[in-house]
Amino acid sequence: MAEKPLVWIVDDDAAIRELLSFMVAEDGCRVESFLSGAEVLAASGAKPAAVLLDLMMPEIDGVEVLKELRRRLPALPVIILTAVSDIARAVEVTKLGAYDYLTKPVDKDRLLTTLRRAVTQHSLEQEVGRLRGELAERYGLRTIVGSSAAMRKVYDQIERVLESDITVFISGESGSGKELVAKAIHYGSLRAGGPFVDVNCAAIPEGLQESELFGHEKGAFTGAHASHPGKFEQAAGGTILLDEVGEMSPSSQARLLRVLQERCLTRVGGTKTIALDVRVVSSSNRDLAQLVGEGRFRQDLYYRLVVFPIELPPLRRRREDIPALVEHFLNKYAGDAGRRITRVEPAALELLMRHDWPGNVRELENVIHRSLLVASAPELKRDDLPRELAAERDRAVLADEGPGELRSLEELERQAIERAIDHFGGNLSDVARQLGIGRSTLYRKLEQYGLRPAKGED
Ligand SMILES: Nc1ncnc2c1ncn2[C@@H]1O[C@H](COP(=O)(O)OP(=O)(O)OP(=O)(O)O)[C@@H](O)[C@H]1O
Ligand SMILES: [Mg+2]
Repeated sequence: MAEKPLVWIVDDDAAIRELLSFMVAEDGCRVESFLSGAEVLAASGAKPAAVLLDLMMPEIDGVEVLKELRRRLPALPVIILTAVSDIARAVEVTKLGAYDYLTKPVDKDRLLTTLRRAVTQHSLEQEVGRLRGELAERYGLRTIVGSSAAMRKVYDQIERVLESDITVFISGESGSGKELVAKAIHYGSLRAGGPFVDVNCAAIPEGLQESELFGHEKGAFTGAHASHPGKFEQAAGGTILLDEVGEMSPSSQARLLRVLQERCLTRVGGTKTIALDVRVVSSSNRDLAQLVGEGRFRQDLYYRLVVFPIELPPLRRRREDIPALVEHFLNKYAGDAGRRITRVEPAALELLMRHDWPGNVRELENVIHRSLLVASAPELKRDDLPRELAAERDRAVLADEGPGELRSLEELERQAIERAIDHFGGNLSDVARQLGIGRSTLYRKLEQYGLRPAKGED
Protein backbone atom coordinates (compact mmCIF):
# COMPACT_ATOMS: atom_id res chain seq x y z
CA MET A 1 0.00 0.00 0.00
CA ALA A 2 1.16 3.54 -0.67
CA GLU A 3 2.61 5.53 2.16
CA LYS A 4 0.24 7.91 3.97
CA PRO A 5 0.47 11.43 2.55
CA LEU A 6 2.29 13.97 4.70
CA VAL A 7 0.53 17.24 5.58
CA TRP A 8 2.21 20.28 7.09
CA ILE A 9 0.15 22.44 9.47
CA VAL A 10 1.40 25.95 10.19
CA ASP A 11 -0.39 28.03 12.85
CA ASP A 12 0.83 30.12 15.75
CA ASP A 13 -2.23 29.14 17.85
CA ALA A 14 -1.52 25.88 19.71
CA ALA A 15 -5.19 24.98 20.18
CA ILE A 16 -5.93 25.30 16.47
CA ARG A 17 -2.78 23.36 15.61
CA GLU A 18 -3.87 20.50 17.80
CA LEU A 19 -7.43 20.45 16.53
CA LEU A 20 -6.33 20.50 12.88
CA SER A 21 -3.69 17.84 13.49
CA PHE A 22 -6.27 15.61 15.08
CA MET A 23 -8.75 15.94 12.21
CA VAL A 24 -6.15 15.46 9.51
CA ALA A 25 -4.50 12.49 11.20
CA GLU A 26 -7.87 10.87 11.77
CA ASP A 27 -8.47 11.17 8.02
CA GLY A 28 -5.42 9.03 7.31
CA CYS A 29 -2.60 11.51 6.82
CA ARG A 30 0.69 11.95 8.59
CA VAL A 31 1.04 15.36 10.18
CA GLU A 32 3.95 17.64 10.97
CA SER A 33 3.06 20.92 12.65
CA PHE A 34 4.95 24.21 12.88
CA LEU A 35 4.29 27.24 15.04
CA SER A 36 5.74 29.91 12.81
CA GLY A 37 6.64 30.81 9.28
CA ALA A 38 10.32 30.77 10.16
CA GLU A 39 10.02 27.23 11.48
CA VAL A 40 8.28 25.80 8.42
CA LEU A 41 10.73 27.50 6.06
CA ALA A 42 13.57 25.89 7.99
CA ALA A 43 11.98 22.44 7.77
CA SER A 44 14.09 19.77 6.22
CA GLY A 45 13.35 16.16 5.44
CA ALA A 46 10.37 14.68 3.63
CA LYS A 47 8.38 17.00 1.42
CA PRO A 48 4.65 17.21 2.15
CA ALA A 49 1.75 16.49 -0.19
CA ALA A 50 -0.13 19.60 1.06
CA VAL A 51 0.16 22.47 3.52
CA LEU A 52 -2.43 24.11 5.77
CA LEU A 53 -1.13 27.63 6.36
CA ASP A 54 -2.47 30.28 8.72
CA LEU A 55 -2.48 33.71 7.15
CA MET A 56 -2.14 35.88 10.26
CA MET A 57 1.03 35.06 12.12
CA PRO A 58 3.49 37.29 13.93
CA GLU A 59 6.88 37.99 12.34
CA ILE A 60 6.77 36.27 8.95
CA ASP A 61 3.12 36.21 7.93
CA GLY A 62 1.36 33.64 5.77
CA VAL A 63 1.73 35.62 2.54
CA GLU A 64 5.51 35.64 2.79
CA VAL A 65 5.58 31.94 3.65
CA LEU A 66 3.28 31.20 0.72
CA LYS A 67 5.51 33.09 -1.73
CA GLU A 68 8.59 31.28 -0.51
CA LEU A 69 6.93 27.85 -0.60
CA ARG A 70 5.67 28.53 -4.12
CA ARG A 71 9.18 29.41 -5.17
CA ARG A 72 10.76 26.35 -3.61
CA LEU A 73 8.04 23.75 -4.30
CA PRO A 74 5.85 25.02 -7.14
CA ALA A 75 3.81 21.83 -7.29
CA LEU A 76 2.92 21.83 -3.58
CA PRO A 77 -0.71 22.79 -2.87
CA VAL A 78 -0.98 25.37 -0.08
CA ILE A 79 -4.36 25.83 1.62
CA ILE A 80 -4.73 29.13 3.46
CA LEU A 81 -6.60 29.41 6.78
CA THR A 82 -8.02 32.81 7.52
CA ALA A 83 -10.44 34.75 9.71
CA VAL A 84 -13.71 35.73 8.07
CA SER A 85 -12.73 39.38 8.47
CA ASP A 86 -9.74 38.78 6.26
CA ILE A 87 -11.49 37.30 3.22
CA ALA A 88 -10.29 40.04 0.87
CA ARG A 89 -6.69 39.11 1.58
CA ALA A 90 -7.46 35.43 1.25
CA VAL A 91 -8.74 36.05 -2.26
CA GLU A 92 -5.58 38.00 -2.92
CA VAL A 93 -3.40 35.03 -1.93
CA THR A 94 -5.13 32.65 -4.28
CA LYS A 95 -3.78 34.92 -7.00
CA LEU A 96 -0.33 34.25 -5.59
CA GLY A 97 -0.92 30.61 -6.23
CA ALA A 98 -2.57 29.35 -3.04
CA TYR A 99 -4.55 26.20 -3.79
CA ASP A 100 -7.66 27.34 -1.83
CA TYR A 101 -8.61 29.12 1.36
CA LEU A 102 -10.75 28.11 4.35
CA THR A 103 -12.27 30.41 6.96
CA LYS A 104 -11.90 29.89 10.70
CA PRO A 105 -13.43 28.34 12.62
CA VAL A 106 -12.66 25.54 10.21
CA ASP A 107 -15.54 23.34 9.12
CA LYS A 108 -14.29 19.77 9.34
CA ASP A 109 -16.01 18.46 6.21
CA ARG A 110 -14.86 21.36 4.07
CA LEU A 111 -11.36 21.02 5.39
CA LEU A 112 -11.16 17.33 4.62
CA THR A 113 -12.69 17.55 1.14
CA THR A 114 -10.39 20.40 0.19
CA LEU A 115 -7.38 18.63 1.60
CA ARG A 116 -8.14 15.31 -0.11
CA ARG A 117 -8.60 17.09 -3.43
CA ALA A 118 -5.27 18.88 -2.98
CA VAL A 119 -3.44 15.69 -2.04
CA THR A 120 -4.88 13.79 -5.00
CA GLN A 121 -3.98 16.57 -7.39
CA HIS A 122 -0.48 16.69 -6.00
CA SER A 123 0.07 12.97 -6.39
CA LEU A 124 -1.34 13.06 -9.92
CA GLU A 125 1.04 15.85 -10.80
CA GLN A 126 3.94 13.93 -9.33
CA GLU A 127 2.87 10.93 -11.40
CA VAL A 128 2.59 13.00 -14.56
CA GLY A 129 6.03 14.43 -13.88
CA ARG A 130 7.43 10.95 -13.46
CA LEU A 131 5.78 9.73 -16.67
CA ARG A 132 7.08 12.77 -18.50
CA GLY A 133 10.58 11.89 -17.39
CA GLU A 134 10.01 8.35 -18.55
CA LEU A 135 8.76 9.51 -21.94
CA ALA A 136 11.78 11.75 -22.38
CA GLU A 137 13.87 8.71 -21.49
CA ARG A 138 12.06 6.58 -24.02
CA TYR A 139 11.86 9.06 -26.86
CA GLY A 140 14.61 11.55 -26.16
CA LEU A 141 17.78 12.14 -28.08
CA ARG A 142 19.50 9.31 -26.24
CA THR A 143 17.23 6.71 -27.86
CA ILE A 144 18.76 7.42 -31.25
CA VAL A 145 21.68 5.11 -31.90
CA GLY A 146 24.66 5.89 -34.10
CA SER A 147 27.73 8.04 -33.78
CA SER A 148 28.74 8.48 -37.42
CA ALA A 149 29.57 12.02 -38.47
CA ALA A 150 26.28 12.13 -40.38
CA MET A 151 24.28 11.24 -37.26
CA ARG A 152 26.25 13.62 -35.05
CA LYS A 153 25.22 16.39 -37.40
CA VAL A 154 21.59 15.33 -36.99
CA TYR A 155 21.90 15.41 -33.16
CA ASP A 156 23.39 18.85 -33.38
CA GLN A 157 20.49 20.05 -35.50
CA ILE A 158 17.94 18.52 -33.12
CA GLU A 159 19.53 20.32 -30.17
CA ARG A 160 19.30 23.60 -32.01
CA VAL A 161 15.53 23.40 -32.44
CA LEU A 162 14.59 22.26 -28.91
CA GLU A 163 14.37 25.71 -27.34
CA SER A 164 12.06 27.24 -29.93
CA ASP A 165 8.92 26.41 -31.89
CA ILE A 166 10.66 26.67 -35.25
CA THR A 167 8.97 24.61 -37.99
CA VAL A 168 11.09 21.58 -38.86
CA PHE A 169 11.10 19.44 -41.98
CA ILE A 170 12.71 16.00 -41.78
CA SER A 171 13.68 14.27 -45.00
CA GLY A 172 15.04 10.78 -45.39
CA GLU A 173 14.34 7.43 -46.98
CA SER A 174 11.75 5.10 -45.55
CA GLY A 175 12.86 3.55 -42.27
CA SER A 176 15.73 5.96 -41.71
CA GLY A 177 14.35 7.24 -38.39
CA LYS A 178 12.29 10.33 -39.28
CA GLU A 179 9.63 9.60 -36.71
CA LEU A 180 12.26 8.91 -34.08
CA VAL A 181 13.80 12.31 -34.73
CA ALA A 182 10.40 14.04 -34.60
CA LYS A 183 9.73 12.44 -31.20
CA ALA A 184 13.15 13.41 -29.91
CA ILE A 185 12.35 16.99 -30.87
CA HIS A 186 8.96 16.93 -29.16
CA TYR A 187 10.05 15.17 -25.97
CA GLY A 188 13.18 17.27 -25.70
CA SER A 189 11.30 20.54 -26.10
CA LEU A 190 9.27 22.63 -23.67
CA ARG A 191 6.19 21.02 -25.21
CA ALA A 192 7.14 17.59 -23.86
CA GLY A 193 4.21 17.67 -21.43
CA GLY A 194 1.76 18.22 -24.29
CA PRO A 195 0.56 15.67 -26.84
CA PHE A 196 2.60 14.32 -29.77
CA VAL A 197 0.18 13.74 -32.62
CA ASP A 198 1.40 11.80 -35.63
CA VAL A 199 -0.57 12.04 -38.88
CA ASN A 200 0.34 9.97 -41.91
CA CYS A 201 -1.03 12.07 -44.75
CA ALA A 202 -0.57 9.24 -47.24
CA ALA A 203 -2.92 7.03 -45.21
CA ILE A 204 -5.91 9.40 -45.26
CA PRO A 205 -8.09 9.42 -48.38
CA GLU A 206 -7.96 12.81 -50.07
CA GLY A 207 -11.58 13.58 -49.44
CA LEU A 208 -11.21 13.11 -45.68
CA GLN A 209 -7.91 14.87 -45.16
CA GLU A 210 -9.23 18.32 -44.40
CA SER A 211 -11.70 17.17 -41.80
CA GLU A 212 -9.18 14.76 -40.22
CA LEU A 213 -6.58 17.46 -39.91
CA PHE A 214 -8.61 20.54 -39.19
CA GLY A 215 -11.86 19.11 -37.80
CA HIS A 216 -15.40 19.76 -38.94
CA GLU A 217 -18.65 21.14 -37.63
CA LYS A 218 -21.87 19.18 -37.51
CA GLY A 219 -23.51 19.11 -40.96
CA ALA A 220 -20.35 20.26 -42.77
CA PHE A 221 -20.84 17.38 -45.21
CA THR A 222 -23.04 14.33 -45.63
CA GLY A 223 -22.34 12.05 -42.72
CA ALA A 224 -21.00 14.76 -40.41
CA HIS A 225 -23.50 13.98 -37.68
CA ALA A 226 -21.49 15.62 -34.93
CA SER A 227 -18.77 18.21 -34.79
CA HIS A 228 -15.31 16.82 -34.49
CA PRO A 229 -11.96 18.39 -33.55
CA GLY A 230 -9.15 17.64 -35.98
CA LYS A 231 -5.59 16.47 -35.34
CA PHE A 232 -4.37 20.06 -35.08
CA GLU A 233 -6.75 20.74 -32.19
CA GLN A 234 -5.80 17.43 -30.56
CA ALA A 235 -2.18 18.53 -30.69
CA ALA A 236 -2.85 21.76 -28.74
CA GLY A 237 0.02 22.49 -26.41
CA GLY A 238 2.17 19.88 -28.15
CA THR A 239 3.60 18.92 -31.52
CA ILE A 240 1.99 17.62 -34.71
CA LEU A 241 4.01 15.46 -37.11
CA LEU A 242 2.71 15.66 -40.67
CA ASP A 243 4.26 12.51 -42.11
CA GLU A 244 4.39 12.03 -45.89
CA VAL A 245 3.40 15.67 -46.17
CA GLY A 246 3.99 15.49 -49.93
CA GLU A 247 0.82 13.40 -50.21
CA MET A 248 -1.45 16.20 -49.00
CA SER A 249 -4.41 17.02 -51.18
CA PRO A 250 -4.46 20.48 -52.83
CA SER A 251 -7.33 21.65 -50.63
CA SER A 252 -5.55 20.50 -47.47
CA GLN A 253 -2.39 22.25 -48.64
CA ALA A 254 -4.33 25.49 -49.04
CA ARG A 255 -5.85 25.18 -45.59
CA LEU A 256 -2.54 24.26 -44.00
CA LEU A 257 -0.93 27.31 -45.57
CA ARG A 258 -3.58 29.57 -43.99
CA VAL A 259 -3.14 27.85 -40.63
CA LEU A 260 0.62 28.40 -40.71
CA GLN A 261 0.25 32.01 -41.81
CA GLU A 262 -2.46 32.99 -39.37
CA ARG A 263 -1.62 30.62 -36.50
CA CYS A 264 -5.31 29.83 -36.09
CA LEU A 265 -7.80 27.57 -37.83
CA THR A 266 -11.45 27.18 -38.65
CA ARG A 267 -13.00 23.74 -38.83
CA VAL A 268 -14.50 22.53 -42.11
CA GLY A 269 -17.99 24.03 -42.29
CA GLY A 270 -17.28 26.27 -39.30
CA THR A 271 -16.86 29.99 -38.85
CA LYS A 272 -15.28 30.24 -35.41
CA THR A 273 -11.52 30.78 -35.44
CA ILE A 274 -9.57 28.64 -33.04
CA ALA A 275 -6.18 29.87 -31.86
CA LEU A 276 -3.41 27.42 -32.47
CA ASP A 277 -0.68 26.49 -30.02
CA VAL A 278 1.01 23.70 -31.96
CA ARG A 279 4.53 23.08 -33.13
CA VAL A 280 4.57 21.76 -36.68
CA VAL A 281 7.07 19.13 -37.79
CA SER A 282 6.67 17.53 -41.21
CA SER A 283 8.50 14.75 -42.94
CA SER A 284 8.72 13.00 -46.25
CA ASN A 285 10.71 10.29 -47.97
CA ARG A 286 10.10 12.05 -51.25
CA ASP A 287 11.95 15.06 -52.54
CA LEU A 288 9.55 17.86 -51.69
CA ALA A 289 11.40 20.38 -53.85
CA GLN A 290 10.90 18.06 -56.81
CA LEU A 291 7.18 17.83 -56.06
CA VAL A 292 7.12 21.63 -56.10
CA GLY A 293 8.86 21.58 -59.47
CA GLU A 294 6.25 19.16 -60.79
CA GLY A 295 3.49 21.47 -59.59
CA ARG A 296 2.21 18.90 -57.10
CA PHE A 297 3.15 20.77 -53.97
CA ARG A 298 2.57 24.47 -53.31
CA GLN A 299 5.76 26.46 -53.30
CA ASP A 300 4.47 28.97 -50.74
CA LEU A 301 3.63 26.08 -48.40
CA TYR A 302 7.03 24.53 -49.05
CA TYR A 303 8.74 27.65 -47.71
CA ARG A 304 6.51 27.67 -44.62
CA LEU A 305 7.28 24.01 -43.85
CA VAL A 306 10.94 23.75 -44.71
CA VAL A 307 12.10 26.48 -42.34
CA PHE A 308 14.62 24.24 -40.63
CA PRO A 309 15.45 21.14 -42.69
CA ILE A 310 16.98 18.03 -41.13
CA GLU A 311 18.23 15.38 -43.53
CA LEU A 312 18.55 11.81 -42.34
CA PRO A 313 21.19 9.93 -44.31
CA PRO A 314 20.33 6.42 -45.53
CA LEU A 315 21.94 3.61 -43.56
CA ARG A 316 24.22 2.56 -46.43
CA ARG A 317 25.91 5.98 -46.17
CA ARG A 318 26.73 5.45 -42.51
CA ARG A 319 27.65 1.79 -42.34
CA GLU A 320 29.85 2.46 -39.31
CA ASP A 321 26.62 2.79 -37.29
CA ILE A 322 25.60 -0.79 -38.13
CA PRO A 323 27.45 -2.59 -35.28
CA ALA A 324 25.97 -0.27 -32.63
CA LEU A 325 22.50 -0.61 -34.14
CA VAL A 326 22.85 -4.40 -34.20
CA GLU A 327 23.76 -4.40 -30.53
CA HIS A 328 20.87 -2.04 -29.76
CA PHE A 329 18.35 -4.34 -31.45
CA LEU A 330 19.90 -7.46 -29.91
CA ASN A 331 19.17 -5.89 -26.52
CA LYS A 332 15.77 -4.64 -27.56
CA TYR A 333 14.57 -8.08 -28.64
CA ALA A 334 16.53 -10.18 -26.18
CA GLY A 335 13.38 -10.83 -24.15
CA ASP A 336 11.41 -12.00 -27.17
CA ALA A 337 13.64 -14.91 -27.94
CA GLY A 338 14.20 -15.69 -24.28
CA ARG A 339 17.91 -16.19 -24.73
CA ARG A 340 20.76 -13.80 -24.44
CA ILE A 341 22.87 -13.24 -27.53
CA THR A 342 26.05 -11.45 -26.57
CA ARG A 343 28.24 -11.89 -29.63
CA VAL A 344 27.95 -11.59 -33.35
CA GLU A 345 29.99 -13.98 -35.47
CA PRO A 346 32.42 -11.96 -37.66
CA ALA A 347 30.99 -13.57 -40.83
CA ALA A 348 27.51 -12.49 -39.76
CA LEU A 349 28.63 -8.95 -39.07
CA GLU A 350 30.34 -8.87 -42.45
CA LEU A 351 27.06 -9.73 -44.17
CA LEU A 352 25.23 -7.07 -42.17
CA MET A 353 27.86 -4.48 -43.02
CA ARG A 354 27.78 -5.28 -46.75
CA HIS A 355 24.04 -5.22 -47.25
CA ASP A 356 22.65 -2.08 -48.83
CA TRP A 357 19.61 -1.77 -46.54
CA PRO A 358 17.07 -0.25 -48.91
CA GLY A 359 14.65 -0.34 -45.97
CA ASN A 360 17.25 1.34 -43.76
CA VAL A 361 17.19 0.97 -39.98
CA ARG A 362 13.71 -0.54 -39.99
CA GLU A 363 14.94 -3.34 -42.26
CA LEU A 364 17.96 -3.94 -40.03
CA GLU A 365 15.69 -4.03 -36.99
CA ASN A 366 13.44 -6.61 -38.65
CA VAL A 367 16.40 -8.73 -39.73
CA ILE A 368 17.82 -8.83 -36.19
CA HIS A 369 14.40 -9.53 -34.71
CA ARG A 370 13.80 -12.43 -37.10
CA SER A 371 17.29 -13.83 -36.65
CA LEU A 372 16.93 -13.90 -32.88
CA LEU A 373 14.07 -16.33 -33.24
CA VAL A 374 16.39 -18.95 -34.69
CA ALA A 375 19.71 -18.02 -33.10
CA SER A 376 21.05 -19.83 -30.08
CA ALA A 377 23.00 -18.19 -27.29
CA PRO A 378 25.53 -16.80 -26.98
CA GLU A 379 26.35 -15.99 -30.62
CA LEU A 380 24.44 -14.71 -33.59
CA LYS A 381 25.73 -16.72 -36.55
CA ARG A 382 25.83 -16.05 -40.25
CA ASP A 383 23.40 -18.92 -40.76
CA ASP A 384 20.86 -17.29 -38.43
CA LEU A 385 20.52 -14.35 -40.79
CA PRO A 386 17.83 -14.39 -43.49
CA ARG A 387 18.92 -16.32 -46.58
CA GLU A 388 18.52 -13.26 -48.80
CA LEU A 389 21.49 -11.57 -47.18
CA ALA A 390 23.85 -14.47 -47.81
CA ALA A 391 22.43 -15.04 -51.29
CA GLU A 392 23.02 -11.41 -52.06
CA ARG A 393 26.62 -11.70 -51.01
CA ASP A 394 27.18 -14.83 -53.11
CA ARG A 395 25.71 -13.06 -56.09
CA ALA A 396 28.09 -10.18 -55.47
CA VAL A 397 31.06 -12.56 -55.38
CA LEU A 398 29.92 -14.27 -58.58
CA ALA A 399 29.39 -10.93 -60.22
CA ASP A 400 32.98 -10.13 -59.33
CA GLU A 401 34.09 -13.04 -61.49
CA GLY A 402 31.42 -12.79 -64.11
CA PRO A 403 31.66 -11.02 -67.43
CA GLY A 404 31.03 -7.74 -65.63
CA GLU A 405 34.75 -7.46 -65.09
CA LEU A 406 36.77 -9.04 -67.83
CA ARG A 407 40.29 -9.94 -66.88
CA SER A 408 43.37 -10.65 -68.87
CA LEU A 409 44.66 -14.22 -69.16
CA GLU A 410 47.73 -13.17 -67.29
CA GLU A 411 45.69 -11.93 -64.42
CA LEU A 412 43.72 -15.17 -64.25
CA GLU A 413 46.94 -17.19 -64.33
CA ARG A 414 48.41 -15.14 -61.50
CA GLN A 415 45.24 -15.60 -59.44
CA ALA A 416 45.25 -19.36 -60.04
CA ILE A 417 48.82 -19.61 -58.81
CA GLU A 418 48.10 -17.47 -55.75
CA ARG A 419 45.13 -19.61 -54.79
CA ALA A 420 47.03 -22.83 -55.26
CA ILE A 421 49.87 -21.54 -53.08
CA ASP A 422 47.36 -20.59 -50.43
CA HIS A 423 45.70 -23.95 -50.69
CA PHE A 424 48.82 -26.07 -50.44
CA GLY A 425 50.42 -23.91 -47.81
CA GLY A 426 53.33 -23.08 -50.10
CA ASN A 427 54.26 -26.63 -51.09
CA LEU A 428 55.46 -25.89 -54.64
CA SER A 429 55.53 -29.50 -55.87
CA ASP A 430 51.84 -29.82 -55.02
CA VAL A 431 51.14 -26.42 -56.58
CA ALA A 432 52.87 -27.39 -59.84
CA ARG A 433 51.06 -30.73 -59.99
CA GLN A 434 47.71 -29.05 -59.34
CA LEU A 435 48.29 -26.46 -62.05
CA GLY A 436 49.56 -29.07 -64.50
CA ILE A 437 52.91 -27.41 -65.12
CA GLY A 438 56.48 -28.35 -64.36
CA ARG A 439 58.36 -26.97 -61.37
CA SER A 440 60.69 -24.86 -63.51
CA THR A 441 57.75 -23.28 -65.31
CA LEU A 442 56.22 -22.54 -61.94
CA TYR A 443 59.44 -20.87 -60.75
CA ARG A 444 59.49 -18.73 -63.88
CA LYS A 445 55.89 -17.67 -63.33
CA LEU A 446 56.58 -16.85 -59.69
CA GLU A 447 59.42 -14.68 -60.83
CA GLN A 448 57.27 -13.06 -63.53
CA TYR A 449 54.44 -12.19 -61.16
CA GLY A 450 56.65 -11.28 -58.24
CA LEU A 451 55.09 -13.97 -56.06
CA ARG A 452 56.77 -15.52 -53.05
CA PRO A 453 55.44 -18.74 -51.58
CA ALA A 454 54.31 -18.40 -47.94
CA LYS A 455 56.42 -21.30 -46.69
CA GLY A 456 60.07 -21.82 -47.62
CA GLU A 457 60.99 -23.81 -50.73
CA ASP A 458 60.64 -27.51 -50.40
N1 LIG B 1 19.18 5.77 -35.28
C1 LIG B 1 18.31 4.88 -34.80
N2 LIG B 1 18.53 4.29 -33.60
C2 LIG B 1 17.66 3.38 -33.11
N3 LIG B 1 16.54 3.00 -33.73
C3 LIG B 1 16.26 3.54 -34.92
C4 LIG B 1 17.12 4.51 -35.51
N4 LIG B 1 16.59 4.90 -36.69
C5 LIG B 1 15.45 4.20 -36.82
N5 LIG B 1 15.23 3.39 -35.77
C6 LIG B 1 14.12 2.44 -35.61
O1 LIG B 1 13.75 1.99 -36.92
C7 LIG B 1 12.34 1.96 -37.07
C8 LIG B 1 11.94 2.90 -38.18
O2 LIG B 1 12.18 4.25 -37.81
P1 LIG B 1 11.13 5.42 -38.10
O3 LIG B 1 9.73 4.92 -37.97
O4 LIG B 1 11.51 6.60 -37.30
O5 LIG B 1 11.46 5.65 -39.64
P2 LIG B 1 10.78 6.64 -40.69
O6 LIG B 1 11.89 7.38 -41.34
O7 LIG B 1 9.73 7.46 -40.02
O8 LIG B 1 10.15 5.63 -41.72
P3 LIG B 1 8.90 5.82 -42.77
O9 LIG B 1 9.38 6.73 -43.84
O10 LIG B 1 8.67 4.46 -43.28
O11 LIG B 1 7.78 6.39 -41.97
C9 LIG B 1 11.77 2.32 -35.72
O12 LIG B 1 11.48 1.16 -35.00
C10 LIG B 1 12.87 3.11 -35.07
O13 LIG B 1 12.79 3.01 -33.67
MG1 LIG C 1 7.65 7.48 -40.34
